[in-house]
Amino acid sequence: MNKKYKRYERLFKQINDLIEKSSNNPFSNMATINAVLYHKMQDFFWIGFYLLQEGKLQVGPYQGSLACINLAKDKGVCWAAINSEKIMLVADVEVFPGHIACDSRSKSEVVVPLKNKLGEIIGVLDVDSKDLNSFDDTDVVWLEKIVALVYGE
Ligand code: SME
Repeated sequence: MNKKYKRYERLFKQINDLIEKSSNNPFSNMATINAVLYHKMQDFFWIGFYLLQEGKLQVGPYQGSLACINLAKDKGVCWAAINSEKIMLVADVEVFPGHIACDSRSKSEVVVPLKNKLGEIIGVLDVDSKDLNSFDDTDVVWLEKIVALVYGE
């Protein structure tokens, strides 16, 4: 296992313990996930949730620079994850059609769909890096597990 995998393993346990002990509130869980990963993962320049609200995709809890509040419908990486119900791994945001740049310093990103207890997609977790090609399968595997903690799986 590589260094990043081991770090995620530790952080997953830490987040799981924090959430299990103190919270049954998905918003508290999202905030906790953001705070832990933003401060402990090296390349995480921005991390946060976008949530579906009456057909709009709006920013929820996040850490990092000021984000767009609304994401134009069916444009960019977050909407692509919602519409395809798949994780998006984007090595270079500039070549992703319709990418929405809330902060022009973001160069690569990974977006993971967020499901409620019924298995419905209600939003996404978005992580941005200032470097190209920052994310790989290790991020995908662990971020998927971490996102599943929001609704207490
Ligand atoms: N880049 C995202 C928008 C959110 S920001 O990166 C925080 C997108 O294209 O959907």
